[in-house]
Amino acid sequence: VTVLGLGPMGQALATAFLDAGHPTTVWNRTPGRAAAPVARGATQAGTVADAVVTSPLVVVCVIDDAAARAIVEPVGAALRGRALVNLTSDTPQRAREMAGWAAAHGIDYLDGAIMSPAAVIGGPQALVLYSGPETIFRAQQAILSSLGGTAAYLGDDPGRAAAHDVALLDIFWTAMSGVVHGFALAGVEGTAPTDIAGYARGIAGLLPPIVDEIARDLSAGDHPGDDSTILSAAAGMAHIVSAADARGLDASVLRAATAIARQAIDAGHGTDGFSRLASLLASGAVSQVA
Ligand SMILES: NC(=O)c1ccc[n+]([C@@H]2O[C@H](COP(=O)([O-])OP(=O)(O)OC[C@H]3O[C@@H](n4cnc5c(N)ncnc54)[C@H](OP(=O)(O)O)[C@@H]3O)[C@@H](O)[C@H]2O)c1
Repeated sequence: VTVLGLGPMGQALATAFLDAGHPTTVWNRTPGRAAAPVARGATQAGTVADAVVTSPLVVVCVIDDAAARAIVEPVGAALRGRALVNLTSDTPQRAREMAGWAAAHGIDYLDGAIMSPAAVIGGPQALVLYSGPETIFRAQQAILSSLGGTAAYLGDDPGRAAAHDVALLDIFWTAMSGVVHGFALAGVEGTAPTDIAGYARGIAGLLPPIVDEIARDLSAGDHPGDDSTILSAAAGMAHIVSAADARGLDASVLRAATAIARQAIDAGHGTDGFSRLASLLASGAVSQVA
């Protein structure tokens, strides 16, 4: 295997391939980052071209697809007939563009999305999503299983893994914004982080069953407001915005979310459940810029 890119994730990937017994060649734009994989037995290549020709499977994992393309495009001819697995996170559109470039160069291309932190790569908790031609995935599946845990194949569309990635990380980063904002609001009201952390864990723990409930509502096209309505949620969100305003704390994230709920109410959905907002957002019926 050749691994191009040795940030924390590239290093974890190279280590997992080595631990599974695969001879591994590594390359990174900044050479000093190869020390750890080389100490474990990897071969460091001086150029991308040298790195690519040593292996039938080339994995690229760098900061974004623009960087990945800048690395692999000059060696397109050398990649012909090899498998290229792009484990760089980026948009579905860019994944499809890169797949188009690879197809035009006779390269067996898969796009992947790593849904786990670097520390768990190679272990049972790792999750990597793949999309692209199934024959290519099946041909590489055994070696990709070195990365541990679950290697999930999502279908032919090379943008599908990235589409899952952005949707799942949308949930993660929007929630993370709430976590840091909640601690800030607690702080300006004089509550110590450790005093609220246990309660905050409880609030975060409410989310998993709600995720399933929202999926059920969206699948059924029915958004009952039996337990809680958008009207009630918007009132609660407005209290938080005003508490933050009163302390001079930025509340732009929740203000934007409240504005969306208000648009849904104005459109006659006030007594629906919160899951209605997912379908209104997807259809463009509500928008933060409206
Ligand atoms: N770290 C994690 O836990 C984690 C978890 C899930 C997914 N991912 C995904 O894995 C990918 C890699 O993440 P990472 O954590 O390893 O590090 P990163 O900070 O996202 O990327 C660092 C890597 O990108 C390279 N790079 C940046 N710009 C470049 C350019 N213009 N040309 C060539 N190389 C360039 C860096 O090379 P230099 O050393 O030369 O700067 C380094 O190898 C990302 O897409 C990330 O979203 C990471």
